[in-house]
Amino acid sequence: MSNDTTLVLGATGKTGRRVAARLRLHGTPVRAASRTSPTRFDWSDPGSWDAALKDVAVAYVVAPNVPGPVHEFVARAEAAGVRRLVLLSGRGADTWGDSTFGLDMRSAEDAVRGSTLEWTVLRPSNFAQNFDEDVFHAPLVAGELALPAGAVPEPFIDIEDVADAAAAVLSEPGRHAGRVYELTGPRALTFGEAVELISRASGRPLAYRRISPAEYAAKLVGEGVSEDDAHHVAEMFVLMERGLISATTDDVATVLGRAPRTFEDYAARAAAAGAWQR
Ligand SMILES: NC(=O)c1ccc[n+]([C@@H]2O[C@H](COP(=O)([O-])OP(=O)(O)OC[C@H]3O[C@@H](n4cnc5c(N)ncnc54)[C@H](OP(=O)(O)O)[C@@H]3O)[C@@H](O)[C@H]2O)c1
Repeated sequence: MSNDTTLVLGATGKTGRRVAARLRLHGTPVRAASRTSPTRFDWSDPGSWDAALKDVAVAYVVAPNVPGPVHEFVARAEAAGVRRLVLLSGRGADTWGDSTFGLDMRSAEDAVRGSTLEWTVLRPSNFAQNFDEDVFHAPLVAGELALPAGAVPEPFIDIEDVADAAAAVLSEPGRHAGRVYELTGPRALTFGEAVELISRASGRPLAYRRISPAEYAAKLVGEGVSEDDAHHVAEMFVLMERGLISATTDDVATVLGRAPRTFEDYAARAAAAGAWQR
């Protein structure tokens, strides 16, 4: 029986669906999995894991936002004969102390790094696509983004580069074994600068306003986010304001042999697709 399938978790998500498309074009057999994908995989239902892992050679792992389950998942992957694991983690996983975010990411990293399988960890910076596919999109369409972020810049990475890097690592056995890649864009921008570029590219007068973490958490709760999740997201900004993850790295070039895409390139593409029009 063939066991050359690549399992892509989070396959309906921002990175997973891009990674799966790249692998299919490359001729790799892909098993797309998540709660609503053709192969059902639910982190909160370990009964759904073994069927997803059958005949899998390599797995792209998008971890759950609670610490713990990846340890059991790795044990199941080892038992199923999986050979390699590529984990999507996040920048600063090892510098964020005991914040909720740090604990989730470190738990998943510890599980993967402690496995007997070949592993690689990807730690991207904040995605540029958060501005058009995720939490920052609706406020921008409404005309103003307000966040607890000021002068500390963020080296936003284009998610197409995250997907390119993940697809390369998934497709190149041996070359990335035991590596932790900190994937960043080519330049760090403040949130104010990022919104200014989006405003120019879209031709709309979009504003950026700095608010306190408490104001931000309250705003998210008002928008229907749970108290816990709101606190979790606000806490992430407090950690970012320490500047521990604001530097750029060369890791995209190390993996892909080329420079990362610029934020301007992202803003032009998304604006051309009408991302920020009312
Ligand atoms: N956003 C950023 O700037 C950023 C930066 C660095 C790292 N990250 C990391 O990226 C990860 C998110 O990846 P992403 O942006 O590609 O995904 P995403 O767009 O947030 O989508 C989440 C994916 O996970 C699946 N999912 C949700 N709950 C699940 C569950 N209980 N069991 C199984 N699958 C579940 C969803 O599909 P279903 O609904 O079908 O289950 C979906 O495919 C997070 O770990 C985050 O820490 C994000």
